[in-house]
Amino acid sequence: MREPLEGRVAVVIGSATGIGAATAAKLAERGARVLLADLALDAAQSRAREIIERGGQAFALQCDVVDESAVAGVIAAAVDRWGGLDILHNNAAAMQLVRGDGAVADATAEHWDETFAVNVRGQMFGCKHAIPAMLARGGGSIINTSSASGLLGDLGLSAYGAGKAAINQLTRAVAVQYGRQNIRCNAVIPGLIKVERPEGRGMTVEQRLSLREHQPAPFDGVPDDVASAVAFLAGDDARFVNGHLLVVDGGLTAHMPTYGDAMRS
Ligand SMILES: NC(=O)c1ccc[n+]([C@@H]2O[C@H](COP(=O)([O-])OP(=O)(O)OC[C@H]3O[C@@H](n4cnc5c(N)ncnc54)[C@H](O)[C@@H]3O)[C@@H](O)[C@H]2O)c1
Repeated sequence: MREPLEGRVAVVIGSATGIGAATAAKLAERGARVLLADLALDAAQSRAREIIERGGQAFALQCDVVDESAVAGVIAAAVDRWGGLDILHNNAAAMQLVRGDGAVADATAEHWDETFAVNVRGQMFGCKHAIPAMLARGGGSIINTSSASGLLGDLGLSAYGAGKAAINQLTRAVAVQYGRQNIRCNAVIPGLIKVERPEGRGMTVEQRLSLREHQPAPFDGVPDDVASAVAFLAGDDARFVNGHLLVVDGGLTAHMPTYGDAMRS
């Protein structure tokens, strides 16, 4: 039986760890050839080797999404190696900047600009350079990684949340502008996903307890949960899905504000 993404060429930007690494593995498992692009080259190369060891096709390239020519180079490398581009997962984000992301009155121009340069402009560069390659192929699927922080207000995460809201709108813009040429553009909106992070940057105990209270799913979301949603949006099963924001959050953003109180009583 043919794998659903057999013969497709995919680029995953921000694929060394976490959700992007899981997506790269999932797309390869479903038959796609995968270029893993990331600032962290060694880790991206390790992920590519793991895919190859499982019988897939993959290679890794270093890319800083702040640099437009680096993003353009990644797309060109996939086209050079495999003759075209079918799937782009735009997933990079500067997660190290989240910790210093407080309330609006405390925002600094530097932190705000840095967050937007990676999280928003980087994804725009991905779309901008993938679109011509997909047009040459007769279509394609772009999946941007957004966040529940782009849907709902919070006590902090001002720059991160505003940036993710911008990703939602970038997604709709691309979907509308290129839908007629058979390019679909959708976003995944993860809730809280358990990702291994360097010491001190993981979820705090308080966050974990709060999540237990507010997330209807009785288990932690993991990168593979988001990867499955991305793989669905990448393939033909989603051929009529365009401009959609697919929430993957265990129900975190679905509940009434009183839900947490009711669960506590
Ligand atoms: N983990 C969560 O709970 C969660 C929730 C909502 C949304 N997200 C989103 O999911 C995506 C992946 O996050 P994650 O949680 O897997 O974290 P992660 O840190 O494991 O993944 C981010 C990846 O982006 C790469 N990256 C960072 N800056 C880059 C740059 N300038 N150029 C290229 N690559 C760069 C990192 O090296 C890393 O591999 C992000 O877009 C994040 O905003 C995560």
